Amino acid sequence: MEPPTIPTTTLPGGGVTPLLGFGTFRLRGEDAYRAVLHALEAGYRHLDTAQLYGNEEAVGRALADSGIPRHQVFVTTKFAQHHPGKEHATLARSLDRLGIEQVDLWLMHYPLKNPGEHLAVWDEFLATAEGGMAAAVGVSNHPPAQLDALAEATGQMPEVNQVRCDPARHHPDLPAAHRERGVVFQGHSPLRKPGLGHPVLTEIAEEHGTDPAQVVIAWHLAHGICVIPKSGRPEHITSNLHAAGLRLSPDDITRIDHLSTHSRRTPAA
Ligand SMILES: NC(=O)c1ccc[n+]([C@@H]2O[C@H](COP(=O)([O-])OP(=O)(O)OC[C@H]3O[C@@H](n4cnc5c(N)ncnc54)[C@H](OP(=O)(O)O)[C@@H]3O)[C@@H](O)[C@H]2O)c1
Repeated sequence: MEPPTIPTTTLPGGGVTPLLGFGTFRLRGEDAYRAVLHALEAGYRHLDTAQLYGNEEAVGRALADSGIPRHQVFVTTKFAQHHPGKEHATLARSLDRLGIEQVDLWLMHYPLKNPGEHLAVWDEFLATAEGGMAAAVGVSNHPPAQLDALAEATGQMPEVNQVRCDPARHHPDLPAAHRERGVVFQGHSPLRKPGLGHPVLTEIAEEHGTDPAQVVIAWHLAHGICVIPKSGRPEHITSNLHAAGLRLSPDDITRIDHLSTHSRRTPAA
């Protein structure tokens, strides 16, 4: 089956990222290699890894063996801040493991408690990106106030914030707060809550002749939220990608929105 067209968004610095990517958390060694290779062959052009996942080498090997030109795949990795002061060297090692010369997006994996240290890491991120090893830099798991603190101190707003997002915790104000700041909102762990067996998801899936994972992924895309589901199973990897071809009705979207208490309190976004 031909892969569907995957929508994209443009980062503030001009990079273009597919809104549906492949997550690789908990995939290690040959499992990671096989899953990523299958994902690329199925049509994914966006891979999400991290220094902490211990799979950058396998991801890079799959990318190389896929034969897909490097510039056609958007690659993200993340820096674990328990090594402050070693940002440049750490990214150099990530690139070495990935077998690439530049990462498309480099994220601070989580905020540091000490604001001074946190800011120092962001400063180093900006300097390292300036040197060309990362085409874009951003953060992960940051509340909007921390985005503002980084921007106020350095004049540079992160291009992306990767935050946990699923129908059960959807907060309509959060993507809007990112849009206002010009920050691309990426959702991680999309399939975990409220669980793929939730009756609203299974009912909508049945109405469309599909499965609940596709419904959840299509719901993210309908909100313009970048989504990076992970799977180690070839059939799930392919089916999740084909969620980009699923069109939910406005009523489906509202029903899924209302799985979150935040949406029930806020007028429809
Ligand atoms: N920035 C951060 O702090 C952070 C934190 C967590 C995650 N992430 C990123 O976000 C990605 C996704 O999050 P995640 O890995 O936590 O969880 P997820 O993608 O929400 O869910 C993965 C789980 O869903 C199952 N699954 C996938 N497709 C399915 C399908 N079609 N039908 C039924 N079950 C399906 C997978 O099992 P199978 O493998 O058996 O299919 C796996 O157990 C990660 O891989 C990582 O790249 C980032």
